[in-house]
Amino acid sequence: MPKTILINGAFGRMGQLACDIIEKHSDFTLVAKTGRSDDLNLALATFCPDIVLDLTSASSVWENVQIMLQHRSFPVIGTSGLKKEHIDLILSQSQEKKLGGLIVPNFSLGAVLQMRCAEQVARYFAKAEIIEAHHEKKLDAPSGTALATAARIEKAHPTSACKTPIHSVRLPGLVAQQEIIFGAEAETLSIVHNVLNREAYMPGLILACQKVTSFNRMYYGLDICLEG
Ligand SMILES: NC(=O)c1ccc[n+]([C@@H]2O[C@H](COP(=O)([O-])OP(=O)(O)OC[C@H]3O[C@@H](n4cnc5c(N)ncnc54)[C@H](OP(=O)(O)O)[C@@H]3O)[C@@H](O)[C@H]2O)c1
Repeated sequence: MPKTILINGAFGRMGQLACDIIEKHSDFTLVAKTGRSDDLNLALATFCPDIVLDLTSASSVWENVQIMLQHRSFPVIGTSGLKKEHIDLILSQSQEKKLGGLIVPNFSLGAVLQMRCAEQVARYFAKAEIIEAHHEKKLDAPSGTALATAARIEKAHPTSACKTPIHSVRLPGLVAQQEIIFGAEAETLSIVHNVLNREAYMPGLILACQKVTSFNRMYYGLDICLEG
């Protein structure tokens, strides 16, 4: 039985692509598309979708999640820019309500795998730096992915207390790129990940929507979907 989905932010760049892919996918039925001028609360009450996918903006996502938590749909939050304190609050609210969901600021499978590779390398290389480069419309710097990568590198090294510096580039012509350079005595090791266009996010977005209905609390990141 296909799962029903409502896409909020359906008329934006990510939203339109997600609508096209979800509409063609046999696991899902797209029951509603909402945008800025729609009433999300009313739409969720009317359509009661299994899943609600949010692809809106950093300024509206917190409010959107609060509305979603009042309904029994499984939220998949693809919008980036949620503050750390808001993420922590959402995770605990969902646990209280036993409501499954996902917050995935980066749907790219390559980005998840790059972080996992970096954790392996960090066990042996004490020093690393990250260069992240994005299109000029990306407002946050460093990117959430770069911050998460740095935190995982620092945690993975058994003894190093080194911080992992992050260098941010914002230029036209770029989509998203992240290079992690590890340095040790007389050698370096680089792990590079490139996103060429938004299609790169769609396999992870589909995976998140397929897995989310099996969760009984909210998770942060796509990692949980790659387990098992
Ligand atoms: N998770 C990932 O892998 C991933 C990848 C790429 C981008 N993103 C993030 O996804 C979000 C969307 O990206 P995008 O490139 O599609 O941006 P976009 O083209 O600006 O689209 C955002 C859409 O959301 C609408 N919107 C804004 N506030 C809303 C609200 N309160 N309720 C309903 N709709 C609202 C906007 O309407 P208006 O045009 O009227 O403002 C617009 O149509 C951003 O946060 C971006 O950083 C995530």
